Amino acid sequence: MRVLSGVKPTGNLHIGNYFGAIQQFVELQHKYEGYYFVADYHSLNSNPEPQNLKKNSMDIIMDYMALGLDPEKSTIFLQSSVPEVVELAFLLSNVTSMGLLMRAHSYKDQQAKGLVPNVGLFYYPLLMAADILLYDSNYVPVGKDQKQHLEITRDIALRFNQMYDDEFFIIPEPMILDTVSVIPGTDGQKMSKSYGNTIEIFAPEKQLKKQVMNIVTDSTPLEEPKDPENCNVVKLFKFFADEAAVAEMKTKYREGNYGYGHAKLELFEGIKKVFGEARERRVELAKNTEYVQKVLNEGSEKARYTAIKKIRKIKKKMGLVGNIYK
Ligand code: ADP
Ligand code: TRP
Repeated sequence: MRVLSGVKPTGNLHIGNYFGAIQQFVELQHKYEGYYFVADYHSLNSNPEPQNLKKNSMDIIMDYMALGLDPEKSTIFLQSSVPEVVELAFLLSNVTSMGLLMRAHSYKDQQAKGLVPNVGLFYYPLLMAADILLYDSNYVPVGKDQKQHLEITRDIALRFNQMYDDEFFIIPEPMILDTVSVIPGTDGQKMSKSYGNTIEIFAPEKQLKKQVMNIVTDSTPLEEPKDPENCNVVKLFKFFADEAAVAEMKTKYREGNYGYGHAKLELFEGIKKVFGEARERRVELAKNTEYVQKVLNEGSEKARYTAIKKIRKIKKKMGLVGNIYK
């Protein structure tokens, strides 16, 4: 059984990425064959600076490793090292209706904001379907916001199977943790690299503290009781403390004489504790780029080998014949 997932290199990894997705990647690699990649083709629809894209891609590879992805157990690779995925997206576009893509949130959201989406963004769910189907993935661990993309992938796979061969594509199952809803950012909306509201796992300590201290709270004065149920600090603290510690924080909120600043400092300490070892490993990996590059080269080669075998079968199914595809 194979498990596959990817993250776009649009910025630094944050705690929402970890609890929504990457924590699962690390756990699942002990049970299934893991394929984990950096979705660099996907990030092109926001037209990043080439230098930034390159840096962010390498950073995420190192972040994956620091957070516990083990190259002995998982295949770690760059999406663009396997150009067959783009070919597959094109092939799948012929069994996909415009309506299916027009219903995608990513496309509708941009339109709602009055922006004119580029074709890359419109095509996004197709490329994601190709990512998943090219590697015969059984399971796809993602955060809740990706649920619709997985449904689109399943629709496309079923349609292809209906047209060409009932048994051809594995219909992938999403793995979405019910216990983890969308993790709020420092401003209360979904934490996202694109919204500038993140708490970054690997930010230097000073910057990390600043991000935590920037969490938006109301202006209840220090001595007055506070409502712990609607506070972003408490919502985030739950990921870094056990039930007793969370209950204690809630009691302090209700009693008063406990300020948001105090709660933020407790959260800051919790984050450092939970990610302490990963943060140290990350510093070491950054000094050892040759090793990181080697892991990436080997992973990309292995992924490409798997992909080439599959795309040959797909083309043959569709009637694209040529000597090399016998
Ligand atoms: P971002 O929105 O920060 O650019 P990505 O789209 O690259 O994040 O998401 C990478 C993975 O992390 C996806 O599986 C996504 O569902 C998950 N994820 C991103 N933000 C959150 C969040 N705030 N809460 C839970 N999961 C998240
Ligand atoms: N769309 C995902 C995101 O925004 C990233 C992604 C691209 C992905 N291809 C994938 C996730 C394939 C899982 C499987 O987070």
